[in-house]
Amino acid sequence: MVLLTITGFAIAIVSIDNSQYKRNKRIIEKLKADNASGNTLVVFFSRSGNTELMARKIAELKKAHVIPIQSERNQIGFRGWIEALTDARKTTTEISPSKVDLSKYDTIYIGSPIWLYSPAPQVFEFAKNNDFTGKNVILFNSMNSKFEQKYIDDFKTVIEKNGGTFEKHIYIIRGRMTQQIDTDSFLKEVEKLIKN
Ligand SMILES: Cc1cc2nc3c(=O)[nH]c(=O)nc-3n(C[C@H](O)[C@H](O)[C@H](O)COP(=O)(O)O)c2cc1C
Repeated sequence: MVLLTITGFAIAIVSIDNSQYKRNKRIIEKLKADNASGNTLVVFFSRSGNTELMARKIAELKKAHVIPIQSERNQIGFRGWIEALTDARKTTTEISPSKVDLSKYDTIYIGSPIWLYSPAPQVFEFAKNNDFTGKNVILFNSMNSKFEQKYIDDFKTVIEKNGGTFEKHIYIIRGRMTQQIDTDSFLKEVEKLIKN
């Protein structure tokens, strides 16, 4: 009975992830702006596309360049979900690109989903590998309900250790699985965060 409940729960979560991924992909295509002109960079890791929506909207508003972080682990689907659960609190993982020439940027937005109350390992790995000397860094996250400040402070420490100034943490709480905000409201939230 317990096994059946857990299996049902996992199937439900993975199929919600899949449908969000497909929905977000369509919106992301329309949002991909080609208006990058400033010295702001948006770097992000996203599994089911919600953080990517946030990243693309920030980039549109800030006329920023965008670099998606790719990772073989934690992809959409059942296996990636199990991996995300087991990797959630790690700060080391494989990513591509691992190191980026940040010399032409003065502000860098770095974003990911929250997993088990922490930003995903991909953004910790990126923060550890890069030199942020003279840069302002803003961490952005999408999540369902909750993060723990301790992990945000850990991220700030890595940025500062690599020479950066941690400007702020911005985030959007989408709501629990069955009562999440729609994408229009989500994108409006991004606008509010960026214009404040
Ligand atoms: C393994 C796993 C753990 C998660 N843990 C949390 C959590 O601790 N707190 C929370 O608010 N949301 C949690 N979430 C939900 C995601 O943060 C949320 O759906 C996010 O918007 C997904 O972003 P993405 O579509 O860019 O991957 C978790 C999701 C996964 C897959």
